[in-house]
Amino acid sequence: MPLITLINASRTYSMAQGQAQAIDHIDLTLEAGDYMSVLGRSGSGKSTLLNVLAMLDTITAGEHWWRDTLINSASEAQRHQARTGRVGYIFQRCHLIERYTVAENIGIGLSGGAFDAAERQQRIAALLARFGLERHAGHHPAQLSLGQQQCAAICRAAIAAPPLLLADEPTAHLDPHQAAQAMRLLSTLHQAGTTVVLASHDATVAARAVRTLQLDAGRIIADARHRA
Ligand SMILES: Nc1ncnc2c1ncn2[C@@H]1O[C@H](COP(=O)(O)OP(=O)(O)OP(=O)(O)O)[C@@H](O)[C@H]1O
Ligand SMILES: [Mg+2]
Repeated sequence: MPLITLINASRTYSMAQGQAQAIDHIDLTLEAGDYMSVLGRSGSGKSTLLNVLAMLDTITAGEHWWRDTLINSASEAQRHQARTGRVGYIFQRCHLIERYTVAENIGIGLSGGAFDAAERQQRIAALLARFGLERHAGHHPAQLSLGQQQCAAICRAAIAAPPLLLADEPTAHLDPHQAAQAMRLLSTLHQAGTTVVLASHDATVAARAVRTLQLDAGRIIADARHRA
């Protein structure tokens, strides 16, 4: 059974000037274990699609299934329950919580409480070390550079090794070393069973994926698999 199925799905925004079709009648099947990059020009609907897949946003027409559960007709509480512990999200804008330290922000990714305090600390420290951020553990997001904030956001999304990981321009603010670390982390999670969906303008980042989805004005114009 696919992890996610979208059938004739649209996301329409109603505005004073009329309607905007951010996602326009798409059919998409995401298999468990996929590593899919989403490409397309600015405004083509990449972030909207990732938000829908994350169950943070709902389609306005069509069907959206998470395995055998119809998500688009579920309540916000049901969608919250469905994504908790299942979905990690690296946002295009990092969305770190300012009143928390870097380590506390990363620990949020483990909410749900499968690990004891020692295990949490150990996981947080290991992720921080990957990105050379050990000495920033006790700092607040505003005390970090944008690239460092994005690394922390990546750590937060990855820490629980969720079944589904969505990454929206995860390397946009990173230097080459950080970007290589980030891509290695995504690959490690993918090899361990995480389904990864990544939106990127960077062709070398997108090339890591096994499947490439091309969007144009909210429609899928290409969907290709590269290697088994
Ligand atoms: N809250 C909103 N209200 C109205 N229109 C919106 C809203 N959010 C997004 N859109 C529209 O939906 C379309 C898709 O936006 P989206 O953010 O998904 O694009 P994107 O492919 O992620 O672009 P980028 O590469 O710049 O991140 C755009 O035309 C945008 O103007
Ligand atoms: Mg976007």
